[in-house]
Amino acid sequence: MLDQSVSKVEVKGFAARFYDQLLKWGSLGKYERFLKEAIAKMNIEKDDAILDLGCGTGKNACLMARYLGANGRIVGVEIGEEMAAQFEKNCSHLSNVFLLRQSFLEPLPFKKEFDKVFLSFVFHGFTQENRRKIIDNARRALKDDGQLIVLDFNEFDLNEKPLWFRIGFKTIECPLAFEYIRINWKEQLKEWGFEIFEQDVWFMETLRLFKAKIKS
Ligand SMILES: C[S@@+](CC[C@H](N)C(=O)[O-])C[C@H]1O[C@@H](n2cnc3c(N)ncnc32)[C@H](O)[C@@H]1O
Repeated sequence: MLDQSVSKVEVKGFAARFYDQLLKWGSLGKYERFLKEAIAKMNIEKDDAILDLGCGTGKNACLMARYLGANGRIVGVEIGEEMAAQFEKNCSHLSNVFLLRQSFLEPLPFKKEFDKVFLSFVFHGFTQENRRKIIDNARRALKDDGQLIVLDFNEFDLNEKPLWFRIGFKTIECPLAFEYIRINWKEQLKEWGFEIFEQDVWFMETLRLFKAKIKS
């Protein structure tokens, strides 16, 4: 069984302080456009209540907030001190964006309150046992007709990807990500009470945004 300590999803220190800049320069400016496209695919409605688990620097929250009206709101959940500080700074001009400092592996203080629970580049970095906890917490926080929206790696065979990509993936990613890309998430989420009903893929089909609803 994989040990959670191999995860790189809890971002700290230099990587946390320069997270957005590292993504911007590391992707030669492509990440920004991809993120905007992915968030547009979420079909955010103006009154939506969105729970952003592992909200990071608040970049995603700022982009999502553009779609919301006065009655919409975003609650970001973040454990990292440096990431939380950036979230508070970056979202300080938004009166309908809030931060909750706690681990999303622990029970969350919400019950059937959210239209969307969003996980962006968070889910792959956990063991299967903890991924299950995240899904259970998301389910409790979601309204009955709410959507779980995950932006993360797609399922793919690393050996079929170009050499430069394989080297990059092996250099940057943790063993949990290698396991994640091999899982059939449609089947796994069905077992955990969700149905994937829509998905979009990017970047040689290695990245995916999927939407899932609670199984009836
Ligand atoms: C890879 S970053 C992604 C940040 C953001 N979602 C994005 O797409 O830019 C993962 C984030 O999840 C946070 N995180 C990791 N484990 C967490 C936990 N158990 N509870 C709350 N936040 C967590 C990290 O501190 C980090 O900010």
